[in-house]
Amino acid sequence: MHTWSIRPIPILILTALTFPSAAAEDKKLPPAAAKEIDFAQDIEPILKNNCHKCHGSNKQKSNFRLDSRETALKGGDIGKPIIIGKSAESPLIKYVAGLDEEVKMPPSGDPLNETQVGLLRAWIDQGLKWPETVAVKAVPKMERATLTGHSDMVTSIVFAPNGSTLVSGGGKSLLYRPGEVKIWDLASGKEKCSLDGHQSTVWAVAVSPDGGTIASGSYNKVVKLWDFQQAKERASLEGHANWVTTVAFSPNGKLLATGSEDTTVKLWEATTGKETATLKGHAATVRSLAFSPDNQLLATGSQDGTIKLWDAASGQERATLKGHGDGIFSVAFSPDGKILASGSADRAIKLWDLATGMERATFNGHTNWVISVAFSPKGNALASGGYDRLIKLWNLASGEEVKTLEGHGSAVWSVAFSPDGKTVASGSQDGTVKLWDVPPIRRTAKF
Ligand code: HEC
Repeated sequence: MHTWSIRPIPILILTALTFPSAAAEDKKLPPAAAKEIDFAQDIEPILKNNCHKCHGSNKQKSNFRLDSRETALKGGDIGKPIIIGKSAESPLIKYVAGLDEEVKMPPSGDPLNETQVGLLRAWIDQGLKWPETVAVKAVPKMERATLTGHSDMVTSIVFAPNGSTLVSGGGKSLLYRPGEVKIWDLASGKEKCSLDGHQSTVWAVAVSPDGGTIASGSYNKVVKLWDFQQAKERASLEGHANWVTTVAFSPNGKLLATGSEDTTVKLWEATTGKETATLKGHAATVRSLAFSPDNQLLATGSQDGTIKLWDAASGQERATLKGHGDGIFSVAFSPDGKILASGSADRAIKLWDLATGMERATFNGHTNWVISVAFSPKGNALASGGYDRLIKLWNLASGEEVKTLEGHGSAVWSVAFSPDGKTVASGSQDGTVKLWDVPPIRRTAKF
């Protein structure tokens, strides 16, 4: 239905005359109304009659509320719908004008007419003026649960392969003891058991691919292996000359790799705990490591600002990736093994193409160290945790920030996706583990 009032016609002509060389995309859009927008008179009725049913106080389709300026700008599961001053580029305008193939708003019934679209455009172009109204309730949070029980910071978390349990490591700040490893039942959010034995802060935990073994590394140089089912210590691996910062099992379960402030990486037979190699090359603390999905490569990130790739079988150094401006806190392989993600103290996340060793993308958004990065199991999203207390979700197809998860009272040291990809867990210096619902991540780059 297109209802034409008399007023907009001259405006249409006027705009066409004034802007003869508007962008191609602009041409398909009705022009912005050539008048100063009065929110109460021009905009509110449109939103109220056409949008609030699904994006108001009762319902928030796509987690999106269109009844306050703040929530309108923030967007919902899909992303920021409004670019102030640029109505032609704002997804919301494309949705209401029917120019987006995937999303049309409203989804059914009469579309907005060209006058209404023109008014919304002018409103966005003129700064999205929105008089203060009664405060609205915040958009529902994606935070689902908070697991409490650690005495102090949580430094590392990992999901067990079955997805029903989570393992966390932590403890009191560096000088105090003991270190803590805990197993959590995710259905109830309750602590199942605590693995006691570390004498100082645990900085890293990993679970073997068969779910049978937990590895943990501690500030007092010791790595421990634990029987997951029996929650009993199986072995204590000594060899590092300093703080153990990171541990990882190879995907085939054969190797355990550990990194340390002593600048080395050690490889151990995962079943026997026998040390098989020491990899030297980094000039400062090795802060993170990860095996490629095909078990061939080991990636390490160091405080020296470099990432190194090693042949996992021989321990030979294969390549050094340089580009970050500060130490590397975290590295992770994409599930298809083609991309390596890194998080750095320079506040950036970088994606590296492993076929070429070239930097492919940089994500900026965190306002302090990026301490942890994790790929979703499908490889379409990346989660990052930072010293700025935030967790961010990134759409890897579009390269856009999808969501910021706020709730931790202090630095986020560790993030992980559940095996089904529906949950992100985070471990923080505030002593808690939080579980978050992951919003749908679009697979196409639209805007
Ligand atoms: C009948 C319910 C309904 C109405 C009415 C409706 N929407 Fe939506 N809206 C949805 C649904 C469902 C989605 C999610 C779409 C998807 O995922 O493809 C959505 C998503 C959106 C988004 C994306 C938000 C995000 O970031 O996830 C915007 C923007 C939006 N709508 C704007 C509007 C506007 C403007 C109107 C009024 C002109 C409107 N909608 C009317 C149901 C509705």
